[in-house]
Amino acid sequence: MNIYDPQPNMKPGEARCPGPSTRDLVLSDGWELPAQLLAENYVYMGDEDIPFERYTSKEFFDLEMTKMWNKTWQWTCRDEHIPEVGDYYTYDIGNYSIIVVRAAPDEVKAYVNSCLHRGTQLRPSDSTGSVQHFRCPFHGWTWNLDGSLKEIPCRWDFPKVTDEEFKLPEVKIAKWGGFYFINMDENAMPLEEWIGPLAEHFANWPLDNRYVRLHIQKILPANWKASQEAFVEAYHSLETHAHAMPFSANLNAQYDIFSERVTRFFHTFGFPDPSYTKSQTEQELLDAMGMLPPGTKVPDGVTARSFLAAHFRKTLGEDRGIDLSTRSDSEMLDSIEYHLFPNMFLFPGVSLPMVYRFRPNGMDPDSAIFDLLFLEELAPGQERPEAPEPYKIDIGTSYETVPGIGPFLGHVYDQDTGNLEMQQKGFKAARKTAQTLGNYQEIRVRRLHKTLDSYLNA
Ligand code: FES
Ligand SMILES: [Fe+2]
Repeated sequence: MNIYDPQPNMKPGEARCPGPSTRDLVLSDGWELPAQLLAENYVYMGDEDIPFERYTSKEFFDLEMTKMWNKTWQWTCRDEHIPEVGDYYTYDIGNYSIIVVRAAPDEVKAYVNSCLHRGTQLRPSDSTGSVQHFRCPFHGWTWNLDGSLKEIPCRWDFPKVTDEEFKLPEVKIAKWGGFYFINMDENAMPLEEWIGPLAEHFANWPLDNRYVRLHIQKILPANWKASQEAFVEAYHSLETHAHAMPFSANLNAQYDIFSERVTRFFHTFGFPDPSYTKSQTEQELLDAMGMLPPGTKVPDGVTARSFLAAHFRKTLGEDRGIDLSTRSDSEMLDSIEYHLFPNMFLFPGVSLPMVYRFRPNGMDPDSAIFDLLFLEELAPGQERPEAPEPYKIDIGTSYETVPGIGPFLGHVYDQDTGNLEMQQKGFKAARKTAQTLGNYQEIRVRRLHKTLDSYLNA
């Protein structure tokens, strides 16, 4: 059967790309795989079209702000962003601004970033730094790190102000995997309940023993959902990443819905895509991947994939001082991507150890902030380095120019973000004013909208 052909006599959601599945491929490696890599959970959720208005309307955007963003757990920063007492990190989402601060060695708090006198922000939006207290730049009202009122100049003029009523308003904060999450809803469910199955999936991929090696921030010219959705399916690879078809299996990627808020895709590196039908030797496959110096030979009887995985196991393990001997080829190489609604993406892999954050850019429905971080494992006993400042690039600047990303991934991120401006404009130019999704490959797009709707309709 051709990969392009319809598959008659299937119920909607049942059809799959002909040929081996992701699971077949990773089992063929011969490694014992962690249970979470063998888990599969697809759910058909209907096939109605999704209106473009959801990406362009200011009214819809405002609803998202007042009904979803202020009621959901969002990751803000990691331990290594605020290692010392007094270190703070402001996180902005739309018009909301939150200060996350290390108030004591083992206590991190989150406050609304607005002075209780006349409202001025206590610290600038999206800033980091270190303070002994929060002193408003306008008239100097000052709070201690624990949120208690420290000082009001000319307090004789404010007899109605009590210390008790003028504590800084707190926002819920909780930590998982080294990440601090905030939630502005006082009645929010606990973070553990929010992440649900994610905790079990990452039980043997701990994220708190990692550190931020590189952080890149780019403003994308599309709605925050369109921006995220460019990263939740591998269907676009056939066209957008056509160069990768000889060595990246995309059309048979696996998609999982583990909860309302947790989804995954899983696609392999080092196997050809089902659309790539030319025969190639293992040597040609390795050469096409371009990950090793030209002239590197694949030994007889070894696949290019397992050769590359073994190479990384040795070189990355030695470079970083970590033991990678028990990591499967899949964990070494594959693109395994979890999404946690609404703003987080996590990759547990070794050579692809990314974390993403997508959120609206201020109150603009037409742009989004994309944070791309590389989260590497710490060696045993290694002290966690302080997190680097984000490397900010504008939309016209190639990811390939960022030191440390490497040309391979730089090119891929350029391709992924390169369609967004035309998509956002196309939403507005459309006569057919809604998108039609693939039942399987685009199920995570549908999940995102259904989860969003559960807030908007509440
Ligand atoms: S607005 Fe903050 S001290 Fe006046
Ligand atoms: Fe992509």
